[in-house]
Order: sequence, then structure tokens, then C-alpha cells
Amino acid sequence: MPQKLAETIADIRRAVAAARAAGRSVGLVPTMGALHEGHASLIRLARRQCGYVVVSVFVNPTQFGPNEDYTSYPRTLAEDRELCEREGADQVFAPDVTEVYPPGSRTSVEVTGLGDFLCGPSRPGHFRGVATVVLKLLNIVQPDRAYFGQKDAQQARIIRQVVGDLNVPVEVVVGPTVREPDGLALSSRNRYLDPSQRRHAVALSAALAEARRRVDAGERDAAALRRLLADRIAATPGADLDYAEVVDADSFHPVERLTGPAVAALAMKFGGTRLIDNIELPVPDGG
Ligand code: PAJ
Repeated sequence: MPQKLAETIADIRRAVAAARAAGRSVGLVPTMGALHEGHASLIRLARRQCGYVVVSVFVNPTQFGPNEDYTSYPRTLAEDRELCEREGADQVFAPDVTEVYPPGSRTSVEVTGLGDFLCGPSRPGHFRGVATVVLKLLNIVQPDRAYFGQKDAQQARIIRQVVGDLNVPVEVVVGPTVREPDGLALSSRNRYLDPSQRRHAVALSAALAEARRRVDAGERDAAALRRLLADRIAATPGADLDYAEVVDADSFHPVERLTGPAVAALAMKFGGTRLIDNIELPVPDGG
């Protein structure tokens, strides 16, 4: 496998320094591995915009709750390296946990307000873990651009806030959600679904698309949209609704009426598998 693997901070810094010395701009695509076409689309975007592309593969323990799937999260580094190779990434950075969090680490990054709704309440501490590891990865690799998916819209919003508030010299680029032909957003967790759950999982994107159509047709009442989303999930066999929300695209707080850009977001559980999805609701200001 010719494509390079760095496992230590010293090694990745050396590789990036050499690329910079050769005049190449640096792009970073942070991932937790189990790479799929969603990740691949971000790698290709980075490839187009940067001379040197680093993909980090790190299952970050601090963003998983005590009853979540940290230990069972898929770890497929050999396949991940092949995908990175195919997509033209220059370097994979796959450190182990003690390299990223040496004993004695005490600092974390907390973004207030943006995690009050959606995934924040159902995953206490999750966004603190995400913000902390992403800032660490940005400091380790020091890329010119870093790439994130709209699939995790709240995460992308929080990362933008960290980068702005803490003056991190990086451009945050957000790529569109990549979907299966039936609409299901690609996710490393989709592999947990049994065939029946997989069939019914289309409810998530179908409900969001329906909400978007209602908005396009003039609906401005957020409660009506939440009801539509929740009813669709309630009618889906085996699905347990976590949240059905319509939030302001900037504050990520719920809105009553759509008067500007908003995001409709859904989370549901199929047995032990939690799936999320969202769709942008572009309503002109004053709507
Ligand atoms: P992970 O779930 O592996 O996702 C890595 C990146 O790929 C994220 O920015 C995510 O939004 C994006 N992504 C996932 N599925 C996508 C899809 N279907 N279409 C487009 N982009 C998609 O998100 C994380 O890892 C972690 O929280 C991380 C940011 C790496 C911090 O640990």
C-alpha cells in the first residue's frame, strides 16, 4: 500500500512540513474511519482545492457517551487506507488514543448555546469531545482548509464557531450530504441496520424532503413541520424518535415561524442504532 500512514504527531508534522516546503497547500479531512462515499466526497473536494490532502482516522473516545458505541464502532483501517489511496489522499493520520490524549490531559473546548438542542441534549458531552478533538487535529496538522459534511450540520456549525472564536487560521469547508439512491444519508452506522431496518430507514430522508416541499409550497409554521416529521417517524416500524426539530440555521435554536434560513433535523433509533439527518430550509429573510 504505497499511500502513507503516520501514527504519531511528530510523523504527521514532518510529512506536512515537507509538503509545505514543496509549496503545497494542505487540506485536512477529519474522520473516525469506516470510510464511505460521504467521506470520499470530502476527500475529492479537498483534492480539488489543496495540493496535499491528509485524512485523519481516529475514533475519538471523548465524543462517545458511556452507553454509546465507542468499543463497537467499526475499525477498518486497511480498507480505509485503500479508499484514501483510490481517492488520491496523500497521507493518512491514524494515531492511537494515548498519542492524542496522553495521560494528564485536562483541557477541553466547550461551545455554549449551539449544543442546547438537537444532538446536544441526547448526547451530553458529545460536542465538547468533538470540538476538543477537532481543535487538536487542526493544531497538529495546521491545514489551510479543513473539510466537514453537512450530514452533521450542528457539528459543522460548532466547528465554525470554535475556529472563529479561537482564531484558528484555517478555512472551514462544508460539503453536501451524500445519499444512497433511496435517499438514506451515508453513515458508518448504516452497516448496523438489518435488512428490514435498512428498508425503513428511508423514512428519515423522505420525511425531511416532504418538510422541504411544504416550505417550498409556502408553509412557515415550524410546529406544523415538526408534527409532520414526528408523525412520519411514528409511522415507521421499529423506529423510535429522538427529536424532530426545525432550528435557525445560525443559532441552532428552535424557531416558531420560518423567517430566514433554517434547518429541519431528525434523529431516530432503530434498536441500538441511532441515525440522524437534516435538510436546509432556505427561506428568504422575512419569508
Ligand atoms: P465521521 O462520522 O467519520 O465523519 C467524518 C466527516 O464526514 C464529518 O465531517 C461528517 O459530517 C462527514 N460525513 C459523514 N457522512 C457523510 C455523508 N453522507 N455525506 C457527506 N459527508 C458526510 O464526524 C465525525 O466523524 C467526527 O465527529 C469528527 C469530526 C471526525 C471528530 O471526531
